[in-house]
Amino acid sequence: MIESEELQEGQLIPSERELCERYGISRMTARQAIMELVNEGVLYREQGKGTFVAGKKVQQEAARLTSFTEDMRERGMAVSSTVLEMEVEPAGPVVARFLRVDEGERIIRLKRLRNADGEPMALETSHLLYDVARGTLEVDMSKSSLYEELRRGGVSISHAEQSYEAALVGEADAEVLGVAPGSPALLIERVTFDAKGRAFEYVRSVYRGDRYRITSVLRV
Ligand code: GLP
Repeated sequence: MIESEELQEGQLIPSERELCERYGISRMTARQAIMELVNEGVLYREQGKGTFVAGKKVQQEAARLTSFTEDMRERGMAVSSTVLEMEVEPAGPVVARFLRVDEGERIIRLKRLRNADGEPMALETSHLLYDVARGTLEVDMSKSSLYEELRRGGVSISHAEQSYEAALVGEADAEVLGVAPGSPALLIERVTFDAKGRAFEYVRSVYRGDRYRITSVLRV
């Protein structure tokens, strides 16, 4: 029913009894199927109201180095960000290792909530080499693209190393992302390099598991 769009985003699904009649299945089977679809993020439950069809996930091709702004624009979605933190600070051991600099080196930490069509999608914390990104300190990063600003400042973005891990959204992040604590998430880490091979960005982001899906093309 969802695939044929008989049931659309935000719609209440039929009752277990109706599903049993329609498909000639037992109540247990119907309940199980609904539970699985809730777990997969295809359906969501609202206390006291029922079970509804969730929005389609944003599908992201893993092989291309793009920015959040480019990704969402490509899909015709409006991008907005909330800057939660933007600080100049010394690099701690983890950030220093990823950026291949000494501990204590000056970096810019930028934490943003990224929205698409007004809906929270991800929480991103970028750690940027101060010398490369200092121009962004003068820019309103709630309205600008980090990568566009860096390019404008002469940075030639070349490639990135990225990893994906399954995670659960913690309590503080859950509130900002507008999901229940313990919801599924994708933890994405990226180290981005410029054309000279210098690592200028280390990002840790929490993407909502119910809104995001990664795809890739595999070749033999
Ligand atoms: C993606 C990447 C981040 C990068 C960001 C830049 O979301 N995962 O590593 O910092 O794009 O996005 P924008 O240029 O829209 O600010």
